[in-house]
Parts: sequence; C-alpha cells; structure tokens
Amino acid sequence: MLLVPSGLPAPRRGALSRAFSRSRTLPLLAAQRLLLPLLLALCLALPGAAQAGHGETSRKDGILLVAFGTTVEEARPALDNIERLVRAAHPGAEIRWAWSARKARASLIKEGKPTASPQQALADMAEEGFTHVAVQSFHTITGEEFHGLLATAQAMEGLPKGLTRITVGLPLLASTDDAESLAVALKSLLPKERKPGDAVIFMGHGNPHHPATLSYPAMQYYLTKADPLFFISVVEGSPSFDEVTASLAARKVRTAWLVPLMAVAGDHARNDMAGDEPDSLASQLRERGITPRPVLRGTASAEPVVSIWLRHLDVALKQLDQ
Ligand code: CO
Repeated sequence: MLLVPSGLPAPRRGALSRAFSRSRTLPLLAAQRLLLPLLLALCLALPGAAQAGHGETSRKDGILLVAFGTTVEEARPALDNIERLVRAAHPGAEIRWAWSARKARASLIKEGKPTASPQQALADMAEEGFTHVAVQSFHTITGEEFHGLLATAQAMEGLPKGLTRITVGLPLLASTDDAESLAVALKSLLPKERKPGDAVIFMGHGNPHHPATLSYPAMQYYLTKADPLFFISVVEGSPSFDEVTASLAARKVRTAWLVPLMAVAGDHARNDMAGDEPDSLASQLRERGITPRPVLRGTASAEPVVSIWLRHLDVALKQLDQ
C-alpha cells in the first residue's frame, strides 16, 4: 500500500500516522516508520504541494443499485420497477446500476448493452467525481453474492482519488423484522384467482455451503404465521421440494401456486420452477396429482417487497454521513 501524502491536508497528518500504526501488515511497519518522518518533512517543505488538488474535491453523492442480474429479457422489467421506486423515493438522486452475476452480464454484452460489475460501477463513479456512494444490494439473503459485494465495497473505499465513503444496504432478508414483513408483502404477488385451500410454494435459490442459507427455513416460520398454506423450498439445499410436497399431501392440497422468491423470474423460475422438464417443480406436482399454477413474477415486481429493500437503502444513505 502506498500513501501519497501530498494529497492530505495538514490536519489529517495525525490521522495518517494513526492509520500507519493500526496497519496489520507487519512486514511493512518498519519501512513505514522510516518513511513517515521523511514524507512528513517533504510535506512541510512543500506546503503548496501538500494542498495541491485537494480543494477541488467537493462531495458528490450517488446510489448504486446492485442486482444478481438475469439472462432472461422478459425478466428485466422487474429491475426497471426497482429503479422506478428508488427514483420516486429519492427524487433527483444520481442512480447507477451493476449486476453481480458475470453470466448475466455476459448476456447483455452480446446484445451490445453492457451492465457493469459492482467493482467496475464503483470505479466509474469515482471517475465521474462521486465521493459518497450508497450501494444497495437487491439480493435476497445475506449470502455469497451479498458478501462479495461487501468485500468489493470495502476494497474500493478510500483509494487515492477514489470514493471517500461507500456504504452497503442489506439485502431483502436481513432480520426477523424483514422476514415478518416479507411474508405479508409476498401476498401481493398472488393473483386473485387463488382459492381457499390452494397452497403457495415460494421457490428460493439457496446455497447449502453458505451460513445465510438458514434464512430459508427461518422464512418458513413467518410464512406459516402469514398463511398456513404458504411454503418455501429452495433450488439448492433445505427446505427441499420433497419436504414441501409431503406437507401438501398431508393437507390434501389439490392446487399449488408456484412463486419465485427471487428478485426476477429468470432462468430458475422459467425452467426449474415452471418448465416442462420432468424434474421441474410444476412437473413434480402434476406427477403427484396436484395442479401447478406458476406465477412468473419476481419479488422486485411487487412494490410492498421493494419497500423492504428501500428501508435498507435509507439506512445506507444515512450511514454516508457517519
Ligand atoms: Co442459480
């Protein structure tokens, strides 16, 4: 790590030496102790140079929206809905987008309308003169995608001539309050045609290798409270679809609505959930004599769900000043 002290105004020198003494890169410490007095002497000798360029930096705030992304064009309006609601809540805010999934980004590059990775978007914002950016995760759980985003934000904060402050808003399911709100908000995704006695199965993604995958069985608790015929199953991990179908059989359910618990109704929703392949959820229900009724709407298309994400963005925006 190289710090260029000419960019630091005099009052920050104390902070600079504290930063040095806090450094965890031990092998560098000796070199830093030698370098620091030298660099400070250089600053004092060149007061003009010490100030150069610093006065130009005025604060510029922005919002970066980060979704997993999708390879399915028909799924994209759900993401447009996010932007519409963010703009309504924060009129005049400077908003940028990034997708965290490389495969989803690649599908857009082929179409000639590339979307940035979070890392690229933050670098571009720094280049545009932004100093403070609230990043909002539109992922569902505090899983791998979200932790990757956190690491990216941490790495991009405080770089020379870069972003001074980056905060990250939590994904959809980050607290028991979120889970309780979500269980109720999900009702807005259901069509009026759902009859009493019809079950609803929400299909999450899941990741058996990440601790945050516990969010899904936790979500079942709040779903049951909201509606005794609400169930959750995930593509990878637990609760499994077999567990859900066993519950449906015990309750003699004849019809089950299938709803993705994902921001967009993309590849997983269209194939793993509603597809014609024998292993899709729809086909497995049919095989058990239950009529499947797929709903191809992502959670980002429902305003009551998006408002949970927006609460997290409000926190991230407040933290920009802390
Ligand atoms: Co997947």
